[in-house]
Amino acid sequence: MSRIFSGIQPSGEVHLGNYLGAVRNWVKLQDEYECLYCIVDLHALTVPQEPQELPRRVAEAIATNLACGLDPERSIIFVQSAVPEHTELCWLLTCLTPIGALERMTQFKDKAGGKRHSVGAGLLTYPVLMAADILLYKADTVPVGEDQVQHLELAREIARKFNSTYGPTFPEPQPLLTAGARIMALNAPEKKMSKSLPGSYISLAEEPETIRQKVMRAVTDVGPQGNEMSPGVKNLFTILENVAPPDVVKQFRDAYASGTLRYSDLKQTLAEELIRTLTPIRERRAELLTRPQELQEIVAAGAARARPMAQAVLAEVKEKMGLGRLL
Ligand code: TRP
Repeated sequence: MSRIFSGIQPSGEVHLGNYLGAVRNWVKLQDEYECLYCIVDLHALTVPQEPQELPRRVAEAIATNLACGLDPERSIIFVQSAVPEHTELCWLLTCLTPIGALERMTQFKDKAGGKRHSVGAGLLTYPVLMAADILLYKADTVPVGEDQVQHLELAREIARKFNSTYGPTFPEPQPLLTAGARIMALNAPEKKMSKSLPGSYISLAEEPETIRQKVMRAVTDVGPQGNEMSPGVKNLFTILENVAPPDVVKQFRDAYASGTLRYSDLKQTLAEELIRTLTPIRERRAELLTRPQELQEIVAAGAARARPMAQAVLAEVKEKMGLGRLL
Protein backbone atom coordinates (compact mmCIF):
# COMPACT_ATOMS: atom_id res chain seq x y z
CA MET A 1 0.00 0.00 0.00
CA SER A 2 1.22 3.51 -0.81
CA ARG A 3 2.07 5.68 2.13
CA ILE A 4 0.82 9.24 2.51
CA PHE A 5 2.32 11.94 4.67
CA SER A 6 0.74 15.31 5.13
CA GLY A 7 1.58 18.19 7.41
CA ILE A 8 -1.12 20.36 8.93
CA GLN A 9 -0.30 23.85 10.16
CA PRO A 10 -1.73 24.62 13.61
CA SER A 11 -2.56 28.09 12.40
CA GLY A 12 -5.91 28.73 13.97
CA GLU A 13 -9.17 28.62 12.12
CA VAL A 14 -9.96 26.13 9.39
CA HIS A 15 -12.46 27.52 6.92
CA LEU A 16 -14.83 26.13 4.34
CA GLY A 17 -12.23 26.57 1.58
CA ASN A 18 -9.69 24.48 3.51
CA TYR A 19 -12.34 21.88 4.25
CA LEU A 20 -13.71 21.44 0.72
CA GLY A 21 -10.30 21.95 -0.87
CA ALA A 22 -8.13 19.75 1.34
CA VAL A 23 -9.36 18.27 4.62
CA ARG A 24 -12.26 16.37 3.08
CA ASN A 25 -9.81 14.86 0.65
CA TRP A 26 -7.48 13.70 3.44
CA VAL A 27 -10.47 11.98 4.99
CA LYS A 28 -11.15 10.07 1.75
CA LEU A 29 -7.51 9.11 1.29
CA GLN A 30 -7.71 7.06 4.48
CA ASP A 31 -9.63 4.40 2.53
CA GLU A 32 -6.88 3.86 -0.03
CA TYR A 33 -3.60 4.66 1.66
CA GLU A 34 -1.65 4.19 4.82
CA CYS A 35 -1.80 7.77 6.12
CA LEU A 36 0.30 9.82 8.49
CA TYR A 37 -1.16 13.20 9.42
CA CYS A 38 1.13 15.43 11.39
CA ILE A 39 0.37 18.72 13.13
CA VAL A 40 3.50 20.65 12.26
CA ASP A 41 4.11 22.75 15.36
CA LEU A 42 7.81 23.12 14.53
CA HIS A 43 6.96 24.67 11.19
CA ALA A 44 4.67 27.07 13.02
CA LEU A 45 7.71 28.36 14.95
CA THR A 46 9.18 29.84 11.78
CA VAL A 47 7.02 32.85 12.58
CA PRO A 48 6.65 34.22 16.13
CA GLN A 49 4.27 32.21 18.36
CA GLU A 50 3.01 32.94 21.86
CA PRO A 51 3.98 30.03 24.15
CA GLN A 52 0.67 30.52 25.97
CA GLU A 53 -1.29 30.21 22.77
CA LEU A 54 0.49 27.53 20.80
CA PRO A 55 -0.89 24.58 22.84
CA ARG A 56 -4.46 25.74 22.23
CA ARG A 57 -3.81 26.12 18.54
CA VAL A 58 -2.38 22.63 18.33
CA ALA A 59 -5.35 21.25 20.28
CA GLU A 60 -7.75 23.07 17.97
CA ALA A 61 -6.01 21.73 14.89
CA ILE A 62 -6.28 18.19 16.23
CA ALA A 63 -9.92 18.62 17.26
CA THR A 64 -10.90 20.20 13.94
CA ASN A 65 -9.31 17.49 11.86
CA LEU A 66 -10.79 14.70 13.97
CA ALA A 67 -14.19 16.37 13.77
CA CYS A 68 -13.86 16.44 9.97
CA GLY A 69 -13.24 12.72 9.90
CA LEU A 70 -9.54 11.97 10.29
CA ASP A 71 -9.65 8.65 12.08
CA PRO A 72 -6.94 7.79 14.64
CA GLU A 73 -7.80 4.09 14.25
CA ARG A 74 -6.94 4.06 10.56
CA SER A 75 -4.42 6.90 10.33
CA ILE A 76 -1.46 7.91 12.40
CA ILE A 77 -2.25 11.36 13.78
CA PHE A 78 0.49 13.01 15.80
CA VAL A 79 2.32 16.21 16.65
CA GLN A 80 5.66 16.85 14.95
CA SER A 81 7.62 17.93 18.03
CA ALA A 82 6.67 14.67 19.81
CA VAL A 83 8.88 12.76 17.36
CA PRO A 84 12.33 14.36 17.70
CA GLU A 85 13.67 12.33 14.76
CA HIS A 86 12.11 14.99 12.49
CA THR A 87 14.57 17.62 13.65
CA GLU A 88 17.50 15.24 13.61
CA LEU A 89 16.88 14.17 10.02
CA CYS A 90 16.29 17.82 9.17
CA TRP A 91 19.84 18.67 10.20
CA LEU A 92 21.32 15.81 8.19
CA LEU A 93 19.38 16.90 5.11
CA THR A 94 20.19 20.58 5.68
CA CYS A 95 23.82 19.70 5.07
CA LEU A 96 22.87 18.32 1.63
CA THR A 97 20.71 21.25 0.58
CA PRO A 98 22.15 24.13 -1.43
CA ILE A 99 21.43 27.55 0.10
CA GLY A 100 20.61 28.79 -3.40
CA ALA A 101 17.77 26.30 -3.75
CA LEU A 102 16.27 27.53 -0.48
CA GLU A 103 16.65 31.18 -1.42
CA ARG A 104 14.76 30.55 -4.65
CA MET A 105 11.63 29.30 -2.85
CA THR A 106 8.69 31.58 -3.59
CA GLN A 107 7.27 31.20 -0.09
CA PHE A 108 10.59 32.26 1.46
CA LYS A 109 10.79 35.30 -0.80
CA ASP A 110 7.20 36.26 0.04
CA LYS A 111 7.53 35.73 3.78
CA ALA A 112 11.00 37.16 4.27
CA GLY A 113 10.35 40.09 1.96
CA GLY A 114 12.99 42.75 2.32
CA LYS A 115 14.03 41.46 5.76
CA ARG A 116 16.05 38.44 4.62
CA HIS A 117 18.88 39.18 7.00
CA SER A 118 16.79 39.67 10.12
CA VAL A 119 14.07 37.00 9.87
CA GLY A 120 14.73 33.67 11.60
CA ALA A 121 16.74 31.18 9.56
CA GLY A 122 13.89 28.69 10.06
CA LEU A 123 11.98 30.56 7.38
CA LEU A 124 14.79 29.65 4.97
CA THR A 125 15.22 26.03 6.07
CA TYR A 126 11.46 25.42 6.35
CA PRO A 127 11.38 23.20 3.22
CA VAL A 128 14.19 20.99 4.58
CA LEU A 129 12.12 20.23 7.67
CA MET A 130 9.22 19.48 5.36
CA ALA A 131 11.43 17.11 3.33
CA ALA A 132 12.53 15.45 6.59
CA ASP A 133 8.87 14.99 7.62
CA ILE A 134 8.14 13.10 4.44
CA LEU A 135 11.37 11.14 3.97
CA LEU A 136 11.47 10.02 7.60
CA TYR A 137 8.57 7.69 6.77
CA LYS A 138 9.65 7.00 3.19
CA ALA A 139 6.26 8.32 2.18
CA ASP A 140 5.72 8.16 -1.58
CA THR A 141 2.61 10.33 -1.88
CA VAL A 142 1.99 13.80 -0.49
CA PRO A 143 -1.38 15.53 -0.86
CA VAL A 144 -0.60 19.21 -1.27
CA GLY A 145 -2.10 22.41 -2.51
CA GLU A 146 -0.62 24.34 -5.42
CA ASP A 147 1.38 26.54 -2.99
CA GLN A 148 3.42 23.58 -1.68
CA VAL A 149 4.38 22.02 -5.01
CA GLN A 150 7.69 23.86 -5.13
CA HIS A 151 8.60 22.66 -1.64
CA LEU A 152 7.78 19.11 -2.63
CA GLU A 153 9.94 19.39 -5.71
CA LEU A 154 12.81 20.38 -3.45
CA ALA A 155 12.06 17.37 -1.22
CA ARG A 156 12.47 15.17 -4.31
CA GLU A 157 15.78 16.85 -5.15
CA ILE A 158 17.00 16.26 -1.61
CA ALA A 159 15.93 12.60 -1.81
CA ARG A 160 17.82 12.21 -5.12
CA LYS A 161 20.89 13.88 -3.71
CA PHE A 162 20.87 11.58 -0.69
CA ASN A 163 20.32 8.49 -2.84
CA SER A 164 23.10 9.34 -5.26
CA THR A 165 25.54 10.22 -2.48
CA TYR A 166 24.85 7.45 0.02
CA GLY A 167 23.02 4.78 -1.99
CA PRO A 168 19.35 4.16 -2.78
CA THR A 169 17.32 4.96 0.34
CA PHE A 170 14.33 7.19 -0.25
CA PRO A 171 11.47 7.00 -2.74
CA GLU A 172 10.91 10.33 -4.51
CA PRO A 173 7.69 11.62 -2.99
CA GLN A 174 5.02 12.52 -5.55
CA PRO A 175 2.50 15.32 -5.10
CA LEU A 176 -1.13 14.37 -5.07
CA LEU A 177 -2.73 17.60 -6.15
CA THR A 178 -5.80 17.69 -4.00
CA ALA A 179 -8.75 17.23 -6.28
CA GLY A 180 -10.95 19.28 -3.97
CA ALA A 181 -12.92 22.35 -4.83
CA ARG A 182 -11.43 25.80 -5.20
CA ILE A 183 -13.61 28.04 -3.08
CA MET A 184 -13.47 31.79 -3.60
CA ALA A 185 -13.94 34.67 -1.15
CA LEU A 186 -17.64 35.31 -0.47
CA ASN A 187 -17.15 39.06 -0.50
CA ALA A 188 -14.55 39.20 -3.30
CA PRO A 189 -15.10 36.17 -5.56
CA GLU A 190 -12.10 36.87 -7.76
CA LYS A 191 -9.82 35.99 -4.82
CA LYS A 192 -9.44 32.71 -2.97
CA MET A 193 -11.32 32.29 0.31
CA SER A 194 -8.75 33.12 2.96
CA LYS A 195 -8.36 33.66 6.67
CA SER A 196 -6.52 36.87 5.98
CA LEU A 197 -9.50 38.38 4.13
CA PRO A 198 -12.16 39.31 6.70
CA GLY A 199 -15.68 38.56 5.48
CA SER A 200 -14.36 36.17 2.84
CA TYR A 201 -14.68 32.94 4.75
CA ILE A 202 -16.90 30.73 6.83
CA SER A 203 -15.02 28.99 9.60
CA LEU A 204 -15.82 25.40 10.56
CA ALA A 205 -16.54 26.68 14.07
CA GLU A 206 -19.11 29.21 12.83
CA GLU A 207 -22.59 29.37 14.42
CA PRO A 208 -25.62 28.88 12.13
CA GLU A 209 -26.73 32.50 12.42
CA THR A 210 -23.33 33.80 11.29
CA ILE A 211 -23.30 31.33 8.40
CA ARG A 212 -26.68 32.71 7.27
CA GLN A 213 -25.46 36.30 7.52
CA LYS A 214 -22.25 35.62 5.61
CA VAL A 215 -24.00 33.73 2.83
CA MET A 216 -26.75 36.34 2.49
CA ARG A 217 -24.08 39.05 2.17
CA ALA A 218 -22.09 37.17 -0.48
CA VAL A 219 -21.37 39.16 -3.63
CA THR A 220 -23.40 37.92 -6.60
CA ASP A 221 -23.40 40.42 -9.45
CA VAL A 222 -20.41 42.60 -10.16
CA GLY A 223 -21.54 44.56 -13.17
CA PRO A 224 -22.36 43.17 -16.61
CA GLN A 225 -20.76 39.79 -17.34
CA GLY A 226 -22.31 39.08 -20.75
CA ASN A 227 -23.62 35.53 -20.88
CA GLU A 228 -21.13 34.28 -18.32
CA MET A 229 -22.20 33.45 -14.81
CA SER A 230 -20.71 36.10 -12.50
CA PRO A 231 -17.79 34.86 -10.36
CA GLY A 232 -19.83 35.29 -7.18
CA VAL A 233 -22.77 33.22 -8.43
CA LYS A 234 -20.41 30.62 -9.82
CA ASN A 235 -18.77 30.34 -6.42
CA LEU A 236 -22.12 29.88 -4.69
CA PHE A 237 -22.92 27.08 -7.13
CA THR A 238 -19.54 25.45 -6.48
CA ILE A 239 -20.17 25.47 -2.75
CA LEU A 240 -23.73 24.21 -3.25
CA GLU A 241 -22.47 21.30 -5.37
CA ASN A 242 -20.17 20.32 -2.53
CA VAL A 243 -22.71 20.37 0.26
CA ALA A 244 -26.17 19.76 -1.25
CA PRO A 245 -27.81 16.68 -2.79
CA PRO A 246 -27.66 16.57 -6.62
CA ASP A 247 -31.41 17.14 -7.11
CA VAL A 248 -31.18 20.42 -5.17
CA VAL A 249 -28.25 21.55 -7.31
CA LYS A 250 -30.12 20.60 -10.48
CA GLN A 251 -33.18 22.56 -9.44
CA PHE A 252 -31.09 25.74 -9.06
CA ARG A 253 -29.08 25.11 -12.24
CA ASP A 254 -32.32 24.75 -14.18
CA ALA A 255 -33.69 27.94 -12.66
CA TYR A 256 -30.50 29.76 -13.63
CA ALA A 257 -30.67 28.42 -17.18
CA SER A 258 -34.26 29.51 -17.61
CA GLY A 259 -33.61 32.93 -16.10
CA THR A 260 -35.96 32.43 -13.16
CA LEU A 261 -33.34 32.07 -10.43
CA ARG A 262 -33.65 34.40 -7.47
CA TYR A 263 -30.32 34.83 -5.75
CA SER A 264 -31.99 35.19 -2.38
CA ASP A 265 -33.51 31.69 -2.81
CA LEU A 266 -30.16 30.27 -3.84
CA LYS A 267 -28.51 31.86 -0.84
CA GLN A 268 -31.15 30.68 1.60
CA THR A 269 -30.89 27.10 0.44
CA LEU A 270 -27.11 27.27 0.38
CA ALA A 271 -27.02 28.62 3.93
CA GLU A 272 -29.26 25.81 5.19
CA GLU A 273 -27.26 23.12 3.37
CA LEU A 274 -24.02 24.56 4.76
CA ILE A 275 -25.45 24.57 8.26
CA ARG A 276 -26.53 20.94 7.78
CA THR A 277 -23.00 19.99 6.66
CA LEU A 278 -21.06 22.04 9.18
CA THR A 279 -23.13 21.65 12.35
CA PRO A 280 -21.97 18.09 13.16
CA ILE A 281 -18.37 19.20 12.61
CA ARG A 282 -18.74 22.26 14.81
CA GLU A 283 -20.43 20.27 17.58
CA ARG A 284 -17.93 17.42 17.49
CA ARG A 285 -15.04 19.89 17.48
CA ALA A 286 -16.42 21.76 20.49
CA GLU A 287 -17.05 18.50 22.31
CA LEU A 288 -13.50 17.26 21.67
CA LEU A 289 -12.09 20.54 22.95
CA THR A 290 -13.84 20.05 26.27
CA ARG A 291 -11.75 16.89 26.71
CA PRO A 292 -8.15 17.93 26.01
CA GLN A 293 -6.95 14.89 27.96
CA GLU A 294 -8.48 12.65 25.32
CA LEU A 295 -6.89 14.64 22.50
CA GLN A 296 -3.58 14.30 24.29
CA GLU A 297 -4.02 10.52 24.46
CA ILE A 298 -4.90 10.29 20.77
CA VAL A 299 -1.77 12.11 19.63
CA ALA A 300 0.40 10.30 22.18
CA ALA A 301 -0.79 7.01 20.69
CA GLY A 302 -0.11 8.42 17.19
CA ALA A 303 3.43 9.42 18.17
CA ALA A 304 4.01 5.98 19.70
CA ARG A 305 3.18 4.43 16.32
CA ALA A 306 5.14 6.98 14.27
CA ARG A 307 8.27 6.95 16.35
CA PRO A 308 9.55 3.41 15.74
CA MET A 309 9.06 3.96 12.00
CA ALA A 310 11.02 7.21 12.23
CA GLN A 311 13.75 5.65 14.37
CA ALA A 312 14.31 2.82 11.90
CA VAL A 313 14.74 5.19 8.95
CA LEU A 314 16.93 7.59 10.90
CA ALA A 315 19.18 4.70 12.00
CA GLU A 316 19.53 3.63 8.36
CA VAL A 317 20.38 7.20 7.31
CA LYS A 318 22.98 7.68 10.05
CA GLU A 319 24.57 4.34 9.28
CA LYS A 320 24.84 5.28 5.61
CA MET A 321 26.34 8.68 6.46
CA GLY A 322 28.91 7.12 8.77
CA LEU A 323 27.44 8.40 12.02
CA GLY A 324 26.97 6.61 15.32
CA ARG A 325 29.85 4.17 15.03
CA LEU A 326 33.61 4.27 15.44
CA LEU A 327 34.62 1.68 12.89
N1 TRP B 1 4.29 23.30 4.43
C1 TRP B 1 2.98 22.70 4.54
C2 TRP B 1 1.90 23.79 4.49
O1 TRP B 1 2.17 24.92 4.82
C3 TRP B 1 2.84 21.92 5.82
C4 TRP B 1 3.77 20.74 5.85
C5 TRP B 1 4.81 20.55 6.70
C6 TRP B 1 3.68 19.61 5.01
N2 TRP B 1 5.39 19.36 6.45
C7 TRP B 1 4.74 18.75 5.42
C8 TRP B 1 2.83 19.24 3.96
C9 TRP B 1 4.95 17.54 4.79
C10 TRP B 1 3.05 18.03 3.34
C11 TRP B 1 4.12 17.18 3.75
O2 TRP B 1 0.79 23.50 4.16
